[in-house]
Amino acid sequence: MKFFVDTADITDIKDLAATGLVDGVTTNPSLVAKSGHANFIDLIKEICKIVPGPVSAEVGATEYEQMLEEGLYLAKLAKNVAVKVPLTPAGLKVCKHLSEQGTMVNVTLCFSAAQAILAAKAGATFVSPFVGRLDDIGESGMQLIADICQIYNSYPNFKTEVLVASVRSPQHVVQAALLGAGVATCPPSVIRQLFAHPLTDKGLAQFVADWAKCGQKILPGKAA
Ligand code: E4P
Repeated sequence: MKFFVDTADITDIKDLAATGLVDGVTTNPSLVAKSGHANFIDLIKEICKIVPGPVSAEVGATEYEQMLEEGLYLAKLAKNVAVKVPLTPAGLKVCKHLSEQGTMVNVTLCFSAAQAILAAKAGATFVSPFVGRLDDIGESGMQLIADICQIYNSYPNFKTEVLVASVRSPQHVVQAALLGAGVATCPPSVIRQLFAHPLTDKGLAQFVADWAKCGQKILPGKAA
């Protein structure tokens, strides 16, 4: 399973990329606005240098012609840009065009299995079902992931990866992994939570204390 970090904050991206466990980055207009970065193009170029995996950069337009122009421009910024388009008729048309020319495309704002089928037919590299936002309105985000995974697995000619988005907790990540989703994009806080367990902290404190008590060392010539 791949982990993408869902942020446009350069400090967080650098910090998490240093773990060696981040496979890509997703941004969206809201995250870019939140980052306070003044120049979106420079921001995407910078992120693409920090993380070699796919970096989703979302178009701003909603009409086909301008969306395509923006997508073509974004695709030229770096080899690892994945152009992000909304799941609309225009977005899927742009997706088909860009996918056919070899550009990675992330189809975003997916809220139904029917939409995910369309994204796959349009040749999307990734489809982004938003699990948290579905949970927020009393629907089951994870049931949608289960449905999409089952459908995609039935059609080997569908090459689209399920990119679980709007992730709110480590439980979402684990459930997505159990269902076999290819990618989870997580806010930095959720990635950090994945490392944590109180028994790990407690156990480590005990090991450190016992190691100090026994006075042994591993590296010759270094203090214990
Ligand atoms: C990712 O590509 C999405 O834009 C993101 O996960 C949305 O998350 P949110 O519902 O927390 O805004």
